[in-house]
Amino acid sequence: MGVLFVAASNLFAIFPAQMVRKSIDLIREILGKLTQSNDSQKVVLREELATNVFYFFLLVIAFAIIRGVFMYLMRQTIIVMSRHIEYDLKNELFVHYQELDQGFYRANRIGDLMARISEDVGRVRMYAGPAIMYSINLVVTIILVLSVMFTVNVRLTWLVIAPLPILSYAIFKINNLINTRSDAIQNQLSSITSFVQEAFSGIRVVKAFAAEEASSLSFEKETESYRKKQMSLAGVEAFFFPLMLFLTGLSSLITIYIGGLEVIAGRASLGNIAEFVMYVTILVWPVTSLGYTSSLIQRAAASQARINEFLETKPSLEYPTGNPLDFKEEITFENISFTYPGKTIPALDKLSFSIPKGSTFAILGTTGSGKSTLIQLLLRLFDPSFGKIKIDSKNLEELDLVQWKEMIGYVPQDVFLFSDSIANNISFGLSHESELLNERIVNASKMAALHENIMGFTQQYETRVGERGITLSGGQKQRVAIARAFIKNPELLILDDCLSALDTKTESEILKNLQEIKRNKTTIIVSHRVSSVKDADKILVLHEGKMLEFGSHDELIELNGSYSAIYSKQIQEDLTLE
Ligand SMILES: Nc1ncnc2c1ncn2[C@@H]1O[C@H](COP(=O)(O)OP(=O)(O)OP(=O)(O)O)[C@@H](O)[C@H]1O
Ligand SMILES: [Mg+2]
Repeated sequence: MGVLFVAASNLFAIFPAQMVRKSIDLIREILGKLTQSNDSQKVVLREELATNVFYFFLLVIAFAIIRGVFMYLMRQTIIVMSRHIEYDLKNELFVHYQELDQGFYRANRIGDLMARISEDVGRVRMYAGPAIMYSINLVVTIILVLSVMFTVNVRLTWLVIAPLPILSYAIFKINNLINTRSDAIQNQLSSITSFVQEAFSGIRVVKAFAAEEASSLSFEKETESYRKKQMSLAGVEAFFFPLMLFLTGLSSLITIYIGGLEVIAGRASLGNIAEFVMYVTILVWPVTSLGYTSSLIQRAAASQARINEFLETKPSLEYPTGNPLDFKEEITFENISFTYPGKTIPALDKLSFSIPKGSTFAILGTTGSGKSTLIQLLLRLFDPSFGKIKIDSKNLEELDLVQWKEMIGYVPQDVFLFSDSIANNISFGLSHESELLNERIVNASKMAALHENIMGFTQQYETRVGERGITLSGGQKQRVAIARAFIKNPELLILDDCLSALDTKTESEILKNLQEIKRNKTTIIVSHRVSSVKDADKILVLHEGKMLEFGSHDELIELNGSYSAIYSKQIQEDLTLE
């Protein structure tokens, strides 16, 4: 339909030129008659001229309106279609990004992901909309206008269109120059954006180290380079429009001069000159746009290739669905080893143990001993390099991952809050239609020893936490994350070192609440501190990815190894603190 509308709007652009030719030829004709007529005939002739010209005038206006309607319809079809394509492509990319695994996010910068979903999609849209529209316009205009011109006067047509290819080529060259310079500006702009983003997410550090001046200086360097690049673009652009106007004007002049010669030779009428000047004006825009359109198409092709590169990336982990999950007995780690991609030293080394359903399992270890890594394997953010994790007797890799994760409440070590209200941060991942959602939020935060704190805020649960939760204290953030895990009432609760920012009193309050929550539920607690783990059914002591000791608190004390050493040391510290 868009193609039809483009054709129709062009057709109505041609008619006015013919009206002008007819009017001028009529004036000439009447002028000729006037010299040989008496006064009363002159009045009749003048009236004839006036009615005819008025009639042409009305037609020109009518054509302009009809043309306008078709141009509107042409944009409504082609440009609107391109917006739909943009929408689909953005959503498709976003959904795909979410499916990709950790390896992908390590290999690609967030800035790159953002650029492809916004800029590159935008460029593809420029192809699907404007570039296609201008191309159709170009073909239709050239066919229509040239065929009309040739039927009017072949010789004049050839002479008049001769300079147009030069115009098109000049525009193409200048446009390429403009594009290279705009790309440089675009790159500089992303560099400025990331600089500002980093400078202000790290504003606390900048201020604490009184590094404002250094930061401003670096920023000035970035903007200075941006300014220079903009100036160089402005230089070319300043050249672009005058050149276009000059070449257009030149074409008109040539038309008038050659047309004049043709009229003198008796091969054309005066009206033809006016008509041809109008045709040339109609032709100039599509011919100019040829250069512009071809560069749009080039850039869109490059962008689509970048988008496809991501769309064709498949997640390296397979996520089977539909293999129902049954967790009745235990989770077993069978001889698990894991080395992070790109590293040589294993983060986990030949670990074997099992976690019976309903028990509390604790992992204690020095920093870097592999505690968080073990949890990540359990969440299938990575698959083990060797060995198998089994749920009852089934391999975790073959089970439905969505079901598995729905069963888990996880508090990560580095808490991430979204810039939203506290309530929405706690109910994250639950549907907003969940029954009694508000009650559940309050309950969960009571269990996380957070409720009193929140009630002290003026906006209570509606308090917004700022980007990444910047307006909350470290301990408050941790407890929001704990409440987020509690509210799911999960079968399997995983707490990765999430009590570390809390004082011993709050810690023991949460641990006490945990006793209540964890009835019939499986709990995994990761910690540096013996106080968090000593009540667990089994304690795994990790050191450099290896199992050092394994057993209950009493058994480990009896063993009189490193656990008991850590225990007596930390008991001492707590006593001196009190
Ligand atoms: N994404 C990663 N890529 C590569 N190596 C990693 C990655 N995450 C952790 N490591 C390495 O794996 C080892 C174990 O890290 P892990 O985070 O499991 O330690 P942890 O026991 O949780 O320590 P902490 O108590 O400090 O949280 C460390 O040597 C660490 O440098
Ligand atoms: Mg850790």
